[in-house]
Amino acid sequence: MDHFRNPRNMGEMKDADAVGEYGNPTCGDLMYIYIKVKEINGQKIIDDISFQTFGCAAAIASSSMITEIAKGKTLDDAIKITRDDVADALDGLPPIKLHCSNLAADALHVAIKKYRENE
Ligand code: FES
Repeated sequence: MDHFRNPRNMGEMKDADAVGEYGNPTCGDLMYIYIKVKEINGQKIIDDISFQTFGCAAAIASSSMITEIAKGKTLDDAIKITRDDVADALDGLPPIKLHCSNLAADALHVAIKKYRENE
């Protein structure tokens, strides 16, 4: 609930290096994850990350949580963040809401793949 009431890193990032867009086929909700990447000691790090979610409370909380999990991680580590990691970090979600947390992980993966395509 805290991540829904006080979402972290919410909003469009105008100078993002890549944007991941993912729509939820179950409910039609939509999420964007923006990433800014920095190279430190030869490692690509997620230096900044933000999200926009046009969806339910669980989707907003999941996006907020994934931005906190992914920030500062290498791209290699961030792409390994799973849907379950997000749901677990939120102390579990009711089964009917699990597809909402999938949106966040999938949008992040799309953003990282797009960044790599344009490298
Ligand atoms: Fe659509 Fe949760 S009901 S993302």
